Amino acid sequence: MKFRIRKAVFPVAGLGTRFLPATKTVPKEMLPVIDKPLIQYAVDEAVEAGCDTMVFVTNRYKHSVADYFDKAYELEQKLEKAGKGELLSLIRDVLPKGVRAVFVTQAEALGLGHAVLCARPVVGDEPFAVLLADDLIWNRGPGALRQMADLAESESHSVIAVQDVPRDQTGSYGIVATGPFADRHGRISAIVEKPAPDVAPSTLAVVGRYVLSPRIFDLLENTGAGSGGEIQLTDAIAALLKEEDVLAYRFEGRRFDCGSHIGLVEATIQYALDHEDLAPAARAYMLDALSR
Ligand code: UTP
Repeated sequence: MKFRIRKAVFPVAGLGTRFLPATKTVPKEMLPVIDKPLIQYAVDEAVEAGCDTMVFVTNRYKHSVADYFDKAYELEQKLEKAGKGELLSLIRDVLPKGVRAVFVTQAEALGLGHAVLCARPVVGDEPFAVLLADDLIWNRGPGALRQMADLAESESHSVIAVQDVPRDQTGSYGIVATGPFADRHGRISAIVEKPAPDVAPSTLAVVGRYVLSPRIFDLLENTGAGSGGEIQLTDAIAALLKEEDVLAYRFEGRRFDCGSHIGLVEATIQYALDHEDLAPAARAYMLDALSR
């Protein structure tokens, strides 16, 4: 099977409880870092990796994600009349030409694995990407998914992004055991969801970027509730390992867990320091705040 990805799945139907009360009305993926919502960073990364179909798995409360990618007639007209061409292209380019958005509903938040399965009718029988927008990955070079897509294509295998975490944090992640690494990738031999530090097979944690074989859908159909009572993508990947090679990939870049308060703060600092106009003022404020 050719491992060229064209479709990217964005599960955005979680409850986002760690960001209540903000997420009472605003989905976590719509929280901004500087001037773009998290979901826009993830979509940009998928477009850069060659995807032309963005599949959003939403729930009935998350209209704002669909609204965001829809045309904003009134606003566009106003900006056009006012001759604000730059702002106009900013809102028109949330999805570049030739890229389409498809929305599917996850009626109940039964877990990430279940959310991915909801995308099956759109993805069909081809390899695809999954991006969790609350894992924001910053890199000066190619985006994390671009790096993974290249590896998946050259090796013809599924690829999962991983990073090293402190052992006391294994209980917050899917953790993989692997064979030896060649360059940045190694074959996964086992994967477990949220193991306690004393039983974790390694400290190599899965982060929210996957390039997956479509076989995962059949396996998800047969995956029951796992850790936390949810249908876990990790459990279906564990089943996939028995049939196909799956590679762990240590991506180049820095990942921010924007599903947590500190992660969103860190991402905002990083992007501010990297922002041409904002950097001097942001740096000055940080130094001042630290000296008080
Ligand atoms: P999280 O584990 O971060 O859960 O989901 P959450 O509900 O979004 O956030 P907290 O922990 O309550 O604050 C990981 C990803 O899977 C999606 C989420 O939207 C997030 O992108 N997800 C999770 C679904 O789409 N559906 C689900 O049933 C569960």
